[in-house]
Amino acid sequence: LNNGLALSPQMGWNSWNFFACNINDTLIRETADALVSTGLADLGYNYINIDDCWSYVKRGNKDQLLPDPKTFPSGIKSLADYVHGKGLKLGIYSDAGVFTCQVRPGSLHHENDDAALFASWGVDYLKYDNCYNLGIPPKERYPPMRDALNSTGRQIFYSLCEWGQDDPALWAGKVGNSWRTTDDIQDTWKSMTDIADKNNKWASYAGPGGWNDPDMLEVGNGGMTFAEYRAHFSIWALMKAPLLIGCDVRNMTSQTIEILSNKEVIQVNQDPLGVQGRRILGQGKGGCREVWAGPLSGNRLAVALWNRCSETVNITMSLPAVGLDGSSAYSVRDLWKHETLSANVVGTFGAQVAVHDCKMYIFTPTVGFSASW
Ligand code: GLA
Ligand code: GLA
Repeated sequence: LNNGLALSPQMGWNSWNFFACNINDTLIRETADALVSTGLADLGYNYINIDDCWSYVKRGNKDQLLPDPKTFPSGIKSLADYVHGKGLKLGIYSDAGVFTCQVRPGSLHHENDDAALFASWGVDYLKYDNCYNLGIPPKERYPPMRDALNSTGRQIFYSLCEWGQDDPALWAGKVGNSWRTTDDIQDTWKSMTDIADKNNKWASYAGPGGWNDPDMLEVGNGGMTFAEYRAHFSIWALMKAPLLIGCDVRNMTSQTIEILSNKEVIQVNQDPLGVQGRRILGQGKGGCREVWAGPLSGNRLAVALWNRCSETVNITMSLPAVGLDGSSAYSVRDLWKHETLSANVVGTFGAQVAVHDCKMYIFTPTVGFSASW
């Protein structure tokens, strides 16, 4: 969407994956504090997004949305002021239907009033869900909120959440800044890998202004191993997915912090070229030795070697298979070891990768050669 936002994928935090409906004013303020004190804010995680359940179950006597008085007694405006005071932005949630998924009032047919209210509170981001939609197609229900947000005069990031039902990659580039391509992520290896594959299909439709959204990160929530979370983060970064943290940032392990604050991987995600990386090769049984890659600015290439097999394997690729020149030399940087492995890789490259783990690299031509991407 051409509203000046989303030149690179959005980064931040969202309440849903860990807290679901157990949210309140204190949690959001403490999360803002933690994003700053852990250094995550400085790395670019700047949106704090409140998901479902912030609003009261009924509209007020002027038909306006009301914050739940028990959990958000000081209202959203004062929360936005607090978050802005920390140098962060505040996101909120509504639904292109008569109710949200947790049966709070939806914004269908209230688009102008609700958008104006959000803007008056100082909201910077809207996630717009798809429950209780009366069977009206998403293509009809999502543009009115885009127009309503636009007419507030406030820059508000517009995140479509229609679960990939109506192939949004094909039409949502003119409607929103990102669009979900799949149903909800769960904190399991199976869910994460299924979603990666579904999102991969739409790679060619992503770019500055509008991104495919394979849903929020589960890193730190406990259902996957360290290797699996590293793979989850690497592949989301390479796919130019939104990097929306979904754990409790007030209580992170050192492994969770190590993953979420990998600056070199974040830079791949935020690269100004804005091209979504994709699955290039699958070798071995069921294609489980995978190579994913995507071009970066400055003629560089990001490459992920992802082991989706059930034992440790070697993954090897020829450089032309990922679009590089077969006879030129490349310098290869390992983004998890934070180490330049060699300044003279020619022809082929490979590594041993542990079960479900992912290694990630940047290839830079040693002399001025352009890749064929
Ligand atoms: C839907 C969305 C989720 C979350 C919940 C909240 O399932 O896809 O991301 O927002 O609703 O109820
Ligand atoms: C169902 C649920 C929603 C959401 C979608 C995702 O419709 O009710 O909350 O999780 O699935 O596909």
